[in-house]
Amino acid sequence: MATTASLKIDDKEYPLPVIIGTEGEKAVDTRALRTASGYVSFDQGYGNTGSCESQITYLDGDNGILRHRGYPIEQLAHFSDFVETAYLVIYGELPNPAQRKEFGLNLRKNAVIETQMQKILEGFPTSASPMAMLSAMVSALPAYYPHLATNNFEQDLKHFDSAAAIAMSKIRTIVAMIYRYQKGLPFVFPKQELPFCENFLHMLFSEPYQDYVPVPEVAKALNLVLLLHADHEQNCSTSTVRMVGSSASNLFTSISAGICALAGPLHGGANVAVMQMLQSIHDEGDDGSRFIAAAKSGSKSNRLMGFGHAVYRNFDPRAKIIGEACDTVLTRLGIDDPLLKIAKNLEQAALKDDYFVSRRLYPNVDFYSGIIMRAIGIPMNMFTTMFAIGRAPGYIANWREVAANPKGRIYRPRQIYMGAVKRDYVPMAQRA
Ligand code: SDX
Repeated sequence: MATTASLKIDDKEYPLPVIIGTEGEKAVDTRALRTASGYVSFDQGYGNTGSCESQITYLDGDNGILRHRGYPIEQLAHFSDFVETAYLVIYGELPNPAQRKEFGLNLRKNAVIETQMQKILEGFPTSASPMAMLSAMVSALPAYYPHLATNNFEQDLKHFDSAAAIAMSKIRTIVAMIYRYQKGLPFVFPKQELPFCENFLHMLFSEPYQDYVPVPEVAKALNLVLLLHADHEQNCSTSTVRMVGSSASNLFTSISAGICALAGPLHGGANVAVMQMLQSIHDEGDDGSRFIAAAKSGSKSNRLMGFGHAVYRNFDPRAKIIGEACDTVLTRLGIDDPLLKIAKNLEQAALKDDYFVSRRLYPNVDFYSGIIMRAIGIPMNMFTTMFAIGRAPGYIANWREVAANPKGRIYRPRQIYMGAVKRDYVPMAQRA
């Protein structure tokens, strides 16, 4: 495999180093290109640009491979749970019993949201976007934990374990509070004795005189959905966390920025868009062909939501796992959701249609996740906040890589200027 590359511009050759990853990924290191040649590389949207070296997640888009710290997602989905996978993503190894116990305790200890912080939430109209409320609440955390958010890498890394547990646990609690606030229900305090997912469901659905105790299948389904969202390489929102973190912003501020990026319908907002699409198909008695026809128009606003991926040119392995889990969960809960049947028909139709086949567009993680969340009782407008709970470990792990990188530098991409060339000021009196 090549160890150096060479770029020829006009009659000059510029040797460039090559970086080879542990899974054989190859990169041409262009960091010296501008100084040597006056040229920068150009890659709109960074689709073919490595922004960092990372040890957290490996994706092979052509073969539908996803691994966290070397462990295949299929094995984690089968053998692990969300909290254990979160530990793995954040700390790099599966926890031993003592580590798992301490991590779980840290999450339980940090589940409560300060009364004063609740007032921030109550300042929003109940119709506000749950993702806007979530990012606002997370961006307020440094005000309540200033010692964990000094905006000094060395200081903030010293308290990383506490900040990580607070971020992961409180994002979960804040989402439950947003649900209660939008419904005009009183907040439900977390219970120290409950595991992560059960505590979330308790904070969502318990009533003053009636605790909600989920059937094991519901807690298991929630664990699976969150686990499958734990991290996903340099996706739009995780790259945003790294970008903001690279300016020495603390963990909470960086995650809040990531939540804003995740809210977009082309990214984390797709799970809501998928359900809206499936519901419209159901309400119109359509078989999905209208949506497929519209999606083939090529306009970004008509896309078949839950289909396609910036990296996967094969099945998103998470979509396969969630698709299979849908059947199990709905059967065990005795739910016959017509939208699941519509989703399956849509998937079959699209996978036979040359437009999708030729562009290698397959279902992604968002195509089926909404079906399971709806079966659990999560309202559609909260789906993307569920994605944020699941992705918190990935944000935390990536921020830590940025903060702990001694050779790190602030993210500052270049551009190609295509605006007006130099011209002189025109006094008002001389303007037309
Ligand atoms: C997530 O990056 C991650 O890892 C994200 C994520 C994570 O875990 O963090 O996996 C989560 O965001 C999943 C994706 C959720 N978004 C959607 O489901 C929205 C629908 N999908 C698309 O908008 C699109 O597929 C993207 C945004 C996901 C990817 O877009 P790209 O890489 O920019 O693809 P592209 O625009 O280069 O598309 C190539 C072609 C184009 O057609 P042509 O110009 O070649 O004719 O495929 C077409 C696109 O028009 N296309 C689609 C399509 N997706 C791409 N056409 C119809 N429906 C679609 N869904």
